[in-house]
Amino acid sequence: MSEITIRTVETADLDRCFEIETVSYSGDEAATKSKIQKRIKTYPEGFIVLENSLEIIGFINSGATHKVLLSDEEFKELIGHDPEGEHVVILSVVVHPLYQGKGFAGKLLEKFISMMKTSSKTDIFLICQTDLIPMYQKYGFHHLGLSTSDHGGMSWHEMSLSL
Ligand SMILES: CC(C)(COP(=O)(O)OP(=O)(O)OC[C@H]1O[C@@H](n2cnc3c(N)ncnc32)[C@H](O)[C@@H]1OP(=O)(O)O)[C@@H](O)C(=O)NCCC(=O)NCCS
Repeated sequence: MSEITIRTVETADLDRCFEIETVSYSGDEAATKSKIQKRIKTYPEGFIVLENSLEIIGFINSGATHKVLLSDEEFKELIGHDPEGEHVVILSVVVHPLYQGKGFAGKLLEKFISMMKTSSKTDIFLICQTDLIPMYQKYGFHHLGLSTSDHGGMSWHEMSLSL
């Protein structure tokens, strides 16, 4: 495995992040380029990218809030986001298909969790599909139950990790 680094996102990363989002998520599930641009601009502290010597491989982005409502579609555009919010909501965890199954999502999650601890956030929330519940449990998340979110026309589970 070539050396990898994880760092906070930069404006110039937009095209590659959008490419990864588009090839990795199916249909309506993928965020648009303008949503990703807004996440980079509005909350770079909650947006990390993992790269090797050639390119960005995957990323995690998020928003912060004082009040968590995981079915809120507007939050995906960071409407309601407040950088001072004590709760963090992960919006995307994604690894380019060419690099999946090599532990990169795990590395991103570990780094993200430790960064959020350092910035004094109290917990991290996300929604995921059934097959990914064990992956998030491995990193300490608890299953809260089915979400009322129908994001992308699918059903979702809510999970949280107390920091
Ligand atoms: C989900 C995703 C981020 C995983 O990335 P990855 O780098 O392949 O994951 P890792 O190799 O770090 O795997 C971490 C653990 O999760 C498990 N896992 C990964 N993808 C899985 C899947 N689709 N179903 C079940 N388990 C999965 C792995 O087996 C591994 O467990 P192990 O350590 O016990 O073997 C990647 O498949 C992806 O980008 N998918 C499309 C976008 C997406 O659905 N993101 C999740 C949004 S909630």
